[in-house]
Amino acid sequence: MSSVEHVTPAVTEDAPWWRQAVVYQVYPRAFADSNGDGIGDLRGVTSRIEHLARLGVDAVWLSPFYPSPLEDGGYDVADYRDVDPRLGTLTDFDEMVGALHAHGIKVVVDIVPNHTSAAHPWFVEALAAGRGSAARERYIFREGSGVDGSQPPTDWESHFGGSAWERVADGQWYLHNFAVGQPDLNWHSEEVRADFIETIRFWSDRGADGFRVDVAHYLTKDLGEVLPSKAELEALPWDGTHPLADRDDVHEVYATWRAVFDEYDPPRTAVAEAWVDADRLPLYASAEGLGQAFNFDLLEADFDATQFRDVVTHNLDLAARSGSSSTWVLSNHDVVRHPTRYGLAVPGRTDDGRPLVKHGATWLLSGGTEPLDREGGARRARAATLFALALPGSMYLYQGEELGLHEVVEIPDDRREDPTFFRNPGVDVGRDGCRVPLPWTPDGPSLGFGSGPAGLPQPGWMADYAVSRLEEDPTSILHLYQDAIALRRRLLRGEELTWRATGRDDVVRFARHEGWEVVTTFGREGYDLDGAEVLLSSMPVPDGVLPGEATAWVRPS
Ligand code: GLC
Ligand code: CA
Repeated sequence: MSSVEHVTPAVTEDAPWWRQAVVYQVYPRAFADSNGDGIGDLRGVTSRIEHLARLGVDAVWLSPFYPSPLEDGGYDVADYRDVDPRLGTLTDFDEMVGALHAHGIKVVVDIVPNHTSAAHPWFVEALAAGRGSAARERYIFREGSGVDGSQPPTDWESHFGGSAWERVADGQWYLHNFAVGQPDLNWHSEEVRADFIETIRFWSDRGADGFRVDVAHYLTKDLGEVLPSKAELEALPWDGTHPLADRDDVHEVYATWRAVFDEYDPPRTAVAEAWVDADRLPLYASAEGLGQAFNFDLLEADFDATQFRDVVTHNLDLAARSGSSSTWVLSNHDVVRHPTRYGLAVPGRTDDGRPLVKHGATWLLSGGTEPLDREGGARRARAATLFALALPGSMYLYQGEELGLHEVVEIPDDRREDPTFFRNPGVDVGRDGCRVPLPWTPDGPSLGFGSGPAGLPQPGWMADYAVSRLEEDPTSILHLYQDAIALRRRLLRGEELTWRATGRDDVVRFARHEGWEVVTTFGREGYDLDGAEVLLSSMPVPDGVLPGEATAWVRPS
């Protein structure tokens, strides 16, 4: 019995590479350290290309590796057209790109256009030049409020907590939607616009195949003389006219970028990180704009049949409206790793009632003891991965998920680095727990990350997740990723998906093309595959019955 409820259009064989790619996110400081100083670097990436090639990814996206005071993990950029000396040189970058390309792996770099670092020469100049100067026009400076201007211009809050304004020595204030060290740029400035075009050309000329655009829904702002209060701001709709975010005029910027992307052969690609109303996402993903946009709905969903199915239906519709393909993300450098998310019993409290600390949409216990069902979380993560890798569109993987890594909750407070932690004491532990250096071997000073220490400390359990150990075990999650990506590459044709009825609320089934079907059991109960040939499964399938909390790729008999 089957029913056709939703069919997406097929796309021809010569579709551009990014439409259905597997993209692997490297967080450079935590990937591999080539010189033993405890900081992952570009030569480290080059030295581990075999791992990426065996995994079979189509592209690598590198989080920022630019010179930076690291007030926000490198998303505070001091020079957009260079490599942080701690991470290497432009020559190291060229060698890395050459080596990745030689393995058929594309390179995507991160571009951070909403704000610079406070250490950027422009901001240094703005501070020195003083009120009313052209240098201050590149940023968003205002006088303070109160009789003597000693209060911030408004009560707006930054995303990392605390005021969104910071006062400078001469008494003016500047806007920072993120960390204090990340002053927002003024996108009315022609100089700002021209400079980012130069940056895009710079990396495209050096072989970058695409760009990931950080907080793509900010950039342009419309701040009149009288600024609204936080409450007034919050009451305004995000419909393209909001003074701070998701403004229609941001797409004028991306149209100019698109013109540059299209000068290259093949055209450079881009993916927008845009946290906007779903209805407005197609504007970012359109062919006249950035071309693709992240969809974070799976990352925000529980391991739940209805939620997963709705997320897929909704996002395939959005993608069809934009003409782009969809994207799927289970983890990235900003959220709690998904095996941990899927292993947390009661949101907000541990089993014995102790409060958890919030991080984003997830709750974690700060400081060590685990409220976690590690095995259950791992099992659900395997199932979710096979589900997502079978969907039409691009899959974005985050380094370490192929090892099944859990969030590291046991980082001592005095070793934490994320501004979210420091600006929200006792409320949010921040994002360091997914940024701990990768374990490559079960021993050595930093588990093979490098010959020296590990930066953020690696807990002892990480040894069990070491690449070399997982490589030896054919049942490991690493082999599951390798096998799934290889099989996906063989099976992928068009972008169609057809839902199949299962007669069960807790079981989701869909067909791709040429008889490739995917079944996921979200509950504890097994599901009889009715003699279908099992191509790959997240758990063994005894007697043709897919166990609970598992996914199988099958070909019906
Ligand atoms: C994006 C990045 C995040 C960063 C923020 C500010 O959300 O993913 O890591 O903190 O932008 O640049
Ligand atoms: Ca290093």
